[in-house]
Amino acid sequence: MNVTMVGAGRVGLVAAACLADFGIKVHCVDNDVRRIDALREGRVPFEEPGLSELVNKNAVAGRLCFSTNLPDAIRQSLVIFIAVGTEDETPGSPNLKPLFEVGKQIARAMEEYKVLVVKSTVPVGTSRRLAREIMKETSISFDIVSNPEFLREGSAIENFMRPDRVVLGASSHQSLAIVRDIYRPLYLIEAPIIATDNETAELAKYASNAFLSVKISFINEIANLCDNAGVNVHDVAKVLGLDRRIGPKFLHPGIGFGGSCLPKDTRALIASAHQLGCELPVIEGAYKTNVTLCSYLLERLKNAVGTIEHKTIGVLGLAYKPLTDDVRESRAMDFVRLLLKEGAVVQAFDPAANAAAAALVQHENLLLMPDAYEAASNADALAVLTEWNEFRNLDMQRLKKAMNGHVLIDARNCIEPNEAVMEGFDYFGRGRGTMATKEQPAVVAV
Ligand code: UGA
Repeated sequence: MNVTMVGAGRVGLVAAACLADFGIKVHCVDNDVRRIDALREGRVPFEEPGLSELVNKNAVAGRLCFSTNLPDAIRQSLVIFIAVGTEDETPGSPNLKPLFEVGKQIARAMEEYKVLVVKSTVPVGTSRRLAREIMKETSISFDIVSNPEFLREGSAIENFMRPDRVVLGASSHQSLAIVRDIYRPLYLIEAPIIATDNETAELAKYASNAFLSVKISFINEIANLCDNAGVNVHDVAKVLGLDRRIGPKFLHPGIGFGGSCLPKDTRALIASAHQLGCELPVIEGAYKTNVTLCSYLLERLKNAVGTIEHKTIGVLGLAYKPLTDDVRESRAMDFVRLLLKEGAVVQAFDPAANAAAAALVQHENLLLMPDAYEAASNADALAVLTEWNEFRNLDMQRLKKAMNGHVLIDARNCIEPNEAVMEGFDYFGRGRGTMATKEQPAVVAV
């Protein structure tokens, strides 16, 4: 079977490589010529563990090819997956123009029945709208299947290959059978395949991401309370997580959820609910809480070092989460922006995202450093903002020696508080009681 994947981004390229690994011939198409040229030379344009190897293995085997020629790929494929970006046009309003543009191009190029599979995250009713637009361009029959993608950056291949579920929202038995067959290799691992209608599939994707947002904001609110109550949030989270109705995942406090999905999809769900005359106070509250967390952290920093102006602040971690170079809607970047606005000099280091951060924020007071110790050099305070594993084993003595000051803000609870305190740091984590010092050690997890 031949399929086309439109979009060689973080979802499209992973899905293309994984489908090729299922033994399917995949034509991966993107209108970014430089991206396609790089992929043809075996270069994957972003960080994702294992992706380079999977892309190159399948390209060499002749199952994965890259092109900018969409009409040609369409003519060779029965199934066309669409995984184009839906970044906000205005807050809460995803940009669907690229999706509709691809729909139009497919309509113009197709010469026989096709199945269009929408992988992009879109508001409820979008597939129906897309069908109407395509019908304006062609009288050839087609079906649209909504197949939202639930993979996470950093573990994308594992998530695609071993999904919790595959959702297929279809309006015909024929298209459902064709797409179900593509996912046949997952029968072996008994991955549940949920067959439903387009609208349910679309809404279920938004609801999943909104639920994750609520869970993260919930634990961040509990972490704030733990700070004041002198209780360790990880012990509280453990008790919660052992209740199988709650589950242990997504109960890590920090500076809030970021990335290109949770914030955008939560906003979009709220906006589409408003359009349908419905309020979602729990989800809106989760979103609002998320927005306050950077200022909460800044206040803690100010309490510890006084005014931020002219201070040098070391920052460890810029990506929105570890194992990626993605800084889109990164709360770490928001925090850096706040520091710069307050007049600080920021010395930042991220194991993968220095270049992306430099492209996003150009400021004479933002200095990107080659490692954690350089970032700490002569700093008045140090803030750990992304939980890269390498920050869990920093040499506290070396860090402390490199710095001018002694304030350590651990926004992701990567560091053993009392190890830092023993080296003379004033330590502030998330939900680990108030500032810990030598005189007043931190509340450690039991
Ligand atoms: C998220 C969802 O987890 C995926 O299921 C979904 O497919 C994807 O969005 C999407 O819609 O494409 P992703 O954005 O890759 O995946 O990242 P997550 O691992 O969900 O993390 C999102 C944010 O939440 C990060 O900033 C992370 O630091 C934060 N987070 C996550 C927490 O603060 N605490 C947690 O316990 C978990």
